[in-house]
Amino acid sequence: MLLEVSNLSISYGDHPIVHDVSLSLDEGKVIAIVGESGSGKTTVIRAILGCLPNEGRVTGGSIVFNGKDLLKNTPEEWRRISGRDISMVFQSSGSMMDPIQTIGKQFVEYIREHADMTEEEAAKQAVAMLARMNLPNPETIMELFPFELSGGMNQRVGVAMGMFFQPKLLLADEPTSALDVTTQAQVVEEMMGICRDDNTAIIIVTHNLGVAAYMADEIIVMRYGDIIERGTSEEIVDHPKEDYTKELLDAVPQIGDVDHGTY
Ligand SMILES: Nc1ncnc2c1ncn2[C@@H]1O[C@H](COP(=O)(O)OP(=O)(O)OP(=O)(O)O)[C@@H](O)[C@H]1O
Ligand SMILES: [Mg+2]
Repeated sequence: MLLEVSNLSISYGDHPIVHDVSLSLDEGKVIAIVGESGSGKTTVIRAILGCLPNEGRVTGGSIVFNGKDLLKNTPEEWRRISGRDISMVFQSSGSMMDPIQTIGKQFVEYIREHADMTEEEAAKQAVAMLARMNLPNPETIMELFPFELSGGMNQRVGVAMGMFFQPKLLLADEPTSALDVTTQAQVVEEMMGICRDDNTAIIIVTHNLGVAAYMADEIIVMRYGDIIERGTSEEIVDHPKEDYTKELLDAVPQIGDVDHGTY
């Protein structure tokens, strides 16, 4: 087992927010977490990456990654793991980037923070990774600023950075939600392709049950910090038990392959 989260509970200040969440993930597998706004999805994945905001703390349970209890990690151990073994892609990678530095400069810096590499070598490998995400003219993109790229291109850059070190686990928080439907599908497709090649496990948070159904081996439905339903894509999409899940399904925009949910 790559990741085993058991009975995880999380509070912000004195307010319990996430209750008793358990999930486990094998190498190369995909879990999607869905649920309405405020249900605790981001809180759960931030806890797994050890980056809860200051007032957030884990009040119970364990997070075991590769046989090691992450909650016992020292800050130094976190630094070593995050970005390498476990990495994260956010909703709008463009806004995570420094607006006044080129993509290339930031990508190269990111690589050299985690690996002993010359600038030249890091740039070469960054270009190769951008090409893997199907970004056209990756050498040119290295010279551009984030605002010069479209949302979809910025997201591809974000995924390229997140995947650079072939992490064992990718945590993706609404990685495509800011994009139009067609671009969402493309970015998801490219992300999945690289993860399959590298055997990366994914936890993806998404509002879109279509994306979840397409990608995930297991879908977890959260509400008010609880897991209220879970199952395979078929179970959740074709035979949802909870009314809440049915409502989430009804909210999916009807575009594309309806049988398998939609993008
Ligand atoms: N830094 C914080 N301090 C206090 N409460 C917070 C903080 N961050 C989130 N919360 C609360 O925790 C709950 C869960 O928030 P979380 O961001 O995990 O939800 P989410 O499922 O990711 O929602 P969304 O779909 O809108 O991103 C919400 O009630 C939210 O108000
Ligand atoms: Mg969130």
